[in-house]
Amino acid sequence: MESTATQSPASSTYDAPADALVFFGASGDLARKQIFPALHAMVAAGELAVPVVGVAHSQWTVADLRTRARESVLEHGGADDAHLATLLSLLDYVDGDYADSATFDRLRDALSAHQVTHPVHYLAIPPALFETVIDGLRTHNLHLGGRVVVEKPFGRDTASAQELDDVLSRAFPDPAVYRIDHYLGKDEIMNLLYFRFANSFLEPVWNRHYIDHIQITLAEDFGVQGRGSFYESAGALRDVIQNHIFQIVALLAMEPPAYQGYDAVQVAKEAVFRSMRPLRRDDVVRGQFVGYRDEVGVAADSDVETFAAVRLHIDSWRWAGVPWLLRTGKMLATTAGEVVVYFKRPPQTLFDDAQDDKQPNYLRFRLSPVSRIALAARVKTPGEEFTGSQQELMIQTESPLERAPYERLLAGAMAADRALFTSRGSVEAAWRVVEHVLTEHHAAIAYEPGSWGPSQADRLAAASGGWHDPLPDGAT
Ligand code: BG6
Repeated sequence: MESTATQSPASSTYDAPADALVFFGASGDLARKQIFPALHAMVAAGELAVPVVGVAHSQWTVADLRTRARESVLEHGGADDAHLATLLSLLDYVDGDYADSATFDRLRDALSAHQVTHPVHYLAIPPALFETVIDGLRTHNLHLGGRVVVEKPFGRDTASAQELDDVLSRAFPDPAVYRIDHYLGKDEIMNLLYFRFANSFLEPVWNRHYIDHIQITLAEDFGVQGRGSFYESAGALRDVIQNHIFQIVALLAMEPPAYQGYDAVQVAKEAVFRSMRPLRRDDVVRGQFVGYRDEVGVAADSDVETFAAVRLHIDSWRWAGVPWLLRTGKMLATTAGEVVVYFKRPPQTLFDDAQDDKQPNYLRFRLSPVSRIALAARVKTPGEEFTGSQQELMIQTESPLERAPYERLLAGAMAADRALFTSRGSVEAAWRVVEHVLTEHHAAIAYEPGSWGPSQADRLAAASGGWHDPLPDGAT
């Protein structure tokens, strides 16, 4: 599929390839875990040959930034090779408080020294600092000819997402704003789009006439990993359901894009977000793992959910009456991402064994840790009897050469390719779906680490035959 960039090459100054990457939050955790390894891989792939200016308030020098970059690359599987040397030579550094105008003066000097006209400004910083940095860029004319990449979370409800969009629009027109959802940089997620629309056999059955319901689980067997204070302001609904899981729903539920190009995909996805029925209190079961309240930064009486199960409806012609059962959580029985699309049963019972096996046919997309696609169908057991069993036809789609999501996303932003980013309309519509239940909800129910969350979540899936718990990796 062509990207928007290839469809309308350099149609405006905002579509020009970037001649510098400025990243705020250069001394932070995200930079260490994700960004330096991604930059190293981009250099190796020939996608990064322009200055990279780190900005932070850490009393660092460029030498400190280089040391951090080297450590980060080596810690995350990179090699001490020529590409690392190139990356280090591209680094520059500006230190200072984001609220201090002098920091932006220094940034302007650094960019002028490199004769930069089309910078990409990447905000790898806490959301509370977005406005300060965007205003600093604007008042120093550093937004001109540039683009901005904004990390998740994009707001914490509809009003704050709109406010953030307004702040951004003071400096950058919408085509120059790149909103990150790193799930869109994952190959297994893009394969949902490809598999649906590159095959002709699915479309006739991909609707309410043939599909009974769909389950999506993103489970993790670990906790908040030291991010307790961030998590207190988020919870599973904000952290995973409103963005990562809804993006998966949109790719599965969207109408065929009207033409070739990611703009058409954006339009079709946005229509899905708009047709999602806003969630009500009884559509959601929230849970909290036992021990969460002992985490650093977590309130002793916290009601923040580390697990959420949701029954969603999409009020569209295609999906009317088809439940979407969505689940995510920390400290669950295993780490796995899985989508299972359950088909309706045959209209008549022709074989004796049809009653024995409760499981209907399904299509299963295993997203992580290893990606696979499996189609489950009944097959006759050899012999005179008309009996059989359900078996999976399986395709493994993972490649060791796969690129990390941040590498893809940053390379996209540098090349002015919006394909893997979310639109303003989609983000705001997705917030409207969860808006009510962010505040109007039942109390979070305690669950044991290593379980599948509180048993009360079973109620949501009872009419659909119960939850399908993904098997641990290696068992599928
Ligand atoms: C992040 C959430 O956006 O996604 C984390 O903040 C979560 O809480 C993570 O663990 C999951 O991403 P991945 O790529 O590990 O599935």
